[in-house]
Amino acid sequence: MAAPTPSTPDAPRPATRAAGRLVVLVSGGGSNLAALLAAHDGPAYPGRVVGVVADRASAGALDLARAAGVPTAVVAPGDFDDRAAWDRALAEAIAVFRPDLVVSAGFMRILGAAVLDRFDGRVVNTHPALLPAFPGAHAVRDALAFGAKVTGCTLHVVDAGVDTGPVVAQVAVPVEPGDDEATLHERIKVAERRLLVDWVGRIVAGGLTVDGRAVTVGPPA
Ligand code: GRF
Repeated sequence: MAAPTPSTPDAPRPATRAAGRLVVLVSGGGSNLAALLAAHDGPAYPGRVVGVVADRASAGALDLARAAGVPTAVVAPGDFDDRAAWDRALAEAIAVFRPDLVVSAGFMRILGAAVLDRFDGRVVNTHPALLPAFPGAHAVRDALAFGAKVTGCTLHVVDAGVDTGPVVAQVAVPVEPGDDEATLHERIKVAERRLLVDWVGRIVAGGLTVDGRAVTVGPPA
């Protein structure tokens, strides 16, 4: 390995920089996690998944992480006396991995104050609807039941509400005649994976600024 070059004010910036440390929160199968893992294997991706935390040991996403050699942790609510204790343990488990960005990708729990205070403004969530339409755990079912012709996915900064945080980016996805929850969700997830990988990369490369509801990704103008 080449010795590091001492930097001086006039020296060119190094061509490479450390990849942003991503900790991914999961509950389910982990197709979003898989997309991030595939991206971080590419030489140009500015982020690296350094840890995966689940709320249940049965989450299939944990197997994906292990197969990729990424360390995992399980913090299950049933192992704690109350929600606040679980939330504190979750914050600790995330902190162990020293994240630059925490990515909630199919994590089916509301994050509490211990996590949000500790990683303030550095937690994003992917949601399978165009927020503020259809928040909550049944977004795809709710869009179908409403008769929406267009739905989609949203990447947003997490705040204390249920899918209420400032929006980073969104993609629209058409509802097709004959769709059921599974077919529509699958179409949304294709768009969701691209959105997630793209914008998580932009955030770790350029930074994330939140001013009220306005989100800026990239260096301040
Ligand atoms: C995603 O659509 C996510 O937005 C929703 O649940 C799904 C998780 O999928 N909350 P996966 O576990 O990443 O495959």
